[in-house]
Amino acid sequence: MNGANKFRLGVLGSGKGSNFVAIAEAITKGLVPAEIAVVISDVEAAGILEAARERNLNARFLAPGKFRTKLDEEAERTYVRELQAARVDLLVLAGFMRVLKGEFLRAFEGRIVNIHPSLLPAFPGLEAWKQALDHGVKVTGCTVHFVDAGVDSGPIIGQQPVPVRDDDTAESLHQRIQAAEHELYPRCVAAIAQGKVSVRGRTVVWRT
Ligand code: GRF
Repeated sequence: MNGANKFRLGVLGSGKGSNFVAIAEAITKGLVPAEIAVVISDVEAAGILEAARERNLNARFLAPGKFRTKLDEEAERTYVRELQAARVDLLVLAGFMRVLKGEFLRAFEGRIVNIHPSLLPAFPGLEAWKQALDHGVKVTGCTVHFVDAGVDSGPIIGQQPVPVRDDDTAESLHQRIQAAEHELYPRCVAAIAQGKVSVRGRTVVWRT
């Protein structure tokens, strides 16, 4: 792909943006054949926006509307419009704390990915590292998956295991899971950008 036709990423996040930074750095190193077209947050003071601006990327706060866990209809339209205006090929959720609904999923069908801090289908939902610790599992990890209408339920693109240590705290385990995320997410995004990934039913197939 030449410069004009680069695979374009839109990134959505609500938090500190360490996964966004990992992907941005992997792009700079030439490991992900893509460019970041826009970074959008529902939190005005989110670290992800700061990190994007430091890199001179197009970074926008877009108000989420009146709900706590999803976007309201008007906000949904605004988000979709911005992402389409930025000609986004793949929407990368990097700690975006709202569930995407109808219009979003239709507009970007099969083109939204998310990272979750557990080996799905174990421990979907919030604070998955704490759920894993409380359950007493010996191995947890992280999962990159396509987003469908459910919560953390779409076809799995890649997973990376993280052993749980006897002396782990929620913080220490979360830290190691995040380190794994920073390896896994750029690798999965690169494979999608290279057209190496296809979906057959629930199964995601990687072509080498
Ligand atoms: C990640 O740990 C990811 O698993 C979850 O949200 C967190 C975002 O962290 N979906 P960051 O903003 O990328 O640092």
